[in-house]
Amino acid sequence: MKTIIEPFRTKVVEAIKFTTRAEREEILKKAGYNLFQIKAEDVMVDFLTDSGTSAMSSEQWAALMRGDESYAGCSSYFRFEQTVQEIFGFPIVIPVHQGRAAERLLFGELVKPGHVVPSNTHFDTTRANIEFLGGEAVDLPCQEAKDSFSDFPFKGNMDIEALRALLRTRGESVPFIMVTVTNNAVGGQPVSIENVQEISQLARQFGKPFFIDAARFSENAYLVKHREPAYGDKSIGYIAREMFSLADGCMMSAKKDGLANMGGFIALKNEELANSVRNKLIITEGFSTYGGLNGRDLETIAVGLREAMDEDYLCYRQAAARYLANGLREAGIPVVVPSGMHAVYIDAKKMLPNIEPSYLPGQRLVCELYIECGLRSCEIGTAMFGRTRADGSQEPARQELVRLALPRRVYGQSHYDYVIEACQLVQERSQSLTGMTIVSEPPLLRHFTAKFAPLNATGESERNPQRVESACR
Ligand code: F0G
Repeated sequence: MKTIIEPFRTKVVEAIKFTTRAEREEILKKAGYNLFQIKAEDVMVDFLTDSGTSAMSSEQWAALMRGDESYAGCSSYFRFEQTVQEIFGFPIVIPVHQGRAAERLLFGELVKPGHVVPSNTHFDTTRANIEFLGGEAVDLPCQEAKDSFSDFPFKGNMDIEALRALLRTRGESVPFIMVTVTNNAVGGQPVSIENVQEISQLARQFGKPFFIDAARFSENAYLVKHREPAYGDKSIGYIAREMFSLADGCMMSAKKDGLANMGGFIALKNEELANSVRNKLIITEGFSTYGGLNGRDLETIAVGLREAMDEDYLCYRQAAARYLANGLREAGIPVVVPSGMHAVYIDAKKMLPNIEPSYLPGQRLVCELYIECGLRSCEIGTAMFGRTRADGSQEPARQELVRLALPRRVYGQSHYDYVIEACQLVQERSQSLTGMTIVSEPPLLRHFTAKFAPLNATGESERNPQRVESACR
């Protein structure tokens, strides 16, 4: 059969509230043109993130009832621990409430002011946690990642020569090496096992610990199976074990490939490091057998981690992402290729070429998509990763992407068709769209709370009617 069906059927439904275009324009204006500031009930299709937004299976709901809420030594922890040990191969498992808590705890032990932490590409919370500790987060994506139209199969890879050069010149300041699978910030692109082997070798050669951010480990393993010839006949479990056997530990936000609504963990080999992490864990997260989670959360993660490795599920997941990406491409929308699995990324710089990167084409696009059809998407460009210079202008990010992240097991084909149609309508009026400016922003992770304002057709900010030079080319 050519048609790939969802490998599940619906048992419970959640109603979507329909809004009009005029209502959405008003909602957006009130939210300072920031989609993180909009109420979820005012969103019709929520592609903001694939994190914590999965639909749980009947098996997960059943496991939830088994949750043991004892303060210490709950049986749910031991089921969780055993599952993580079996899948990832690390003996020590420390639960935390989500991925960034894992980052804060692990980095808190290892990163000192002046340190440099290389990665294929740091996710925003990873970068923020390193910078908060006075370290420098360095992205070393492979060259192919910089071309959104290159069909290189492993655009998530790290640039090995750049890593070697960094270790040679600034090695003393490197506390550890990281790699994120899949590489979320460059378009959800996978990392090959070969690349992880090379990173692991360099880590050993220079005596550095090596940690994997495992948020989307099973999607990465599935793409390895289908793109890296040596692994074509291997199971997802085998590929995952092979990858993690090359590292000293991992951190995971279970809100992605754990198919859970909340949770995460740190898994390690080193007992001394684990003990220091546990001592800090108890101060802010909770006792070492629950780490800020309910016993029932630990149960749902234990089931979810295995369901996320099911090949029928992964096949459907890839087919859904591909369906959306192909539909957009056929409609003439520039999307990052090859499509990953957790999201489809639109190249906003190419879709809105008359808006310069410093005037936030991605932010404009997410706003227009919301107005068009009630879609919530996420800017991954200058609003998220750029910086405001001393003169108030924007230092642009490396890319201007808009991410349509796909919650797991939530939306169906008609939702994707609806989104494709809306993107096409925005594309048709792209020439008339102007850029945006930042009205206010916090010092870190600015995209969550910054307020924006659109420029009008003559290049003036609606909030601040001072002429903004060269806003539109
Ligand atoms: N690492 C990666 C690769 C991530 O994508 C995320 C979160 C985290 C760490 C942090 O995990 O949210 O559980 O604290 N990514 C979400 C996203 C928020 O939308 O991509 P968390």
